[in-house]
Amino acid sequence: MSNDYKSDVEGLKNKLNCTHIGSNIICMLEIDSTNNLAKEYAKKNAQEGLVIVANSQTKGRGRMGKFWHSPPKTGIYLSILLKPNLKHDQLSFITLLAGVSAILTINEFSHHRANLKWPNDILINDKKICGLLCEMIQKQENSLDVVIGIGLNVNQTIEQLPEDLKKTATSLKITNGSPVNRLTVIQSFLTNLDREYHSFLNKGGNSVIKKWCLNTNLFGKVISIKHGTNIIQGTAIRLDELGRLVLLMDNGHEEAFNSGEIILNKH
Ligand code: BTN
Repeated sequence: MSNDYKSDVEGLKNKLNCTHIGSNIICMLEIDSTNNLAKEYAKKNAQEGLVIVANSQTKGRGRMGKFWHSPPKTGIYLSILLKPNLKHDQLSFITLLAGVSAILTINEFSHHRANLKWPNDILINDKKICGLLCEMIQKQENSLDVVIGIGLNVNQTIEQLPEDLKKTATSLKITNGSPVNRLTVIQSFLTNLDREYHSFLNKGGNSVIKKWCLNTNLFGKVISIKHGTNIIQGTAIRLDELGRLVLLMDNGHEEAFNSGEIILNKH
């Protein structure tokens, strides 16, 4: 079964009809982290569009140093190497377009609508189903490579989720009540990401921001953002033209955040 997964995933290279993504697809049965391996390839000058998939990860990483639970056979753990030739302050667009691509895929397979939670969690029924970890590799003065890592809970049952995640996480199988083929989900995600990335490179970030905003239920809610050691509370009102989350503060001023973590969500 696992070997089938490897050959099926690697066989996607010939099925995908992508411009940027899938120049090479490598599937590992077990690895520490697909992001780590993609970054190693980046340092060796691998081609843009390289995709690394794993059936399981022993040290899957999330944002803020968190662990990403990555058991075999059930989840999707995947990283993509991109070389968009952007400046640091434009990188948030890559994170946002990865989130847009992932939510389009999730909504294609889910019986329940998913929502984006800034900066890039995807929730169904307020439980996390997918997380994205975008990391940069500084190469020369003006050149940045980006690794997009996605972890998507596909066929985990509630019993298979670790105790500490049972209340906060979900999977497509849990919410749909039936399993979903991981391969078709991967194919959909890579196709969406290729299209969104192509459109971003050619037309800029406006449409990414619009699509992101159409897929969140955050706006109008009072939230708290953990930003460094500070916790800042305000009402989420929009993303600005740089993709930053804008909060309306109690004093009537607006403040824009390009990083942080939402830690509280009052309804
Ligand atoms: C988060 O929600 O904090 C981000 C989770 C990202 C997990 C994925 S799984 C594939 C890739 N490899 C990793 O080590 N992390 C990302």
